[in-house]
Amino acid sequence: MEGYRLVPLLSREKIDSLVKSLANQISKDYSHGELVLVCILKGAFMFLSDLMRHLQIPVQVDFVRLVSYGTGMKSSGVIEITKDVEMPLEGKDVLIIEDIIDSGRTLRFLKDRLTLANPRSVKICALLDKKARREVEIEADYLGTEVEDVFVVGYGIDFIESYRNLPEIYYVTPIGQEKS
Ligand code: IMP
Ligand code: MG
Repeated sequence: MEGYRLVPLLSREKIDSLVKSLANQISKDYSHGELVLVCILKGAFMFLSDLMRHLQIPVQVDFVRLVSYGTGMKSSGVIEITKDVEMPLEGKDVLIIEDIIDSGRTLRFLKDRLTLANPRSVKICALLDKKARREVEIEADYLGTEVEDVFVVGYGIDFIESYRNLPEIYYVTPIGQEKS
């Protein structure tokens, strides 16, 4: 990414403590019932795998892949499902696992769609939320932390498919405009 640099936003330790705290809350709230985590690919895979390891309750997992057309830093708002859930969700407690909420369109689309399968409940767990950018009404039931209106990468989150492997979370900024 020429002309840009990555500035550290959330350290491994910070992410780890956010994830553990979410896992504790979820373990308490879902101690009865059948919980299915529905992970949104690709961005949430690392968050899912860490979160699951800290859950103290029985859990099942499934994946969806959603494509929101657009390039680089701006999504178009048109969402297509390219890999659907495979498990029956009827009567189950469903918890959607998402990396980051921006306009809210992705989660609005998926929550409405999963609700059609008659689950017992559908809730949302997101690691990050850019609340300032919301365009449709949707809130995470479990949230790691709010972030400013910056473009983030790392810990599963990409910029044109790169940087997903970074264990920390960074924001992308044009060189010379780093915040202090
Ligand atoms: P929304 O549908 O506008 O809420 O966008 C959510 C999706 O956009 C997330 O699943 C991410 O894939 C992507 N996204 C939103 N913000 C960022 C970001 O700062 N960096 C990388 N991807 C992002
Ligand atoms: Mg995503």
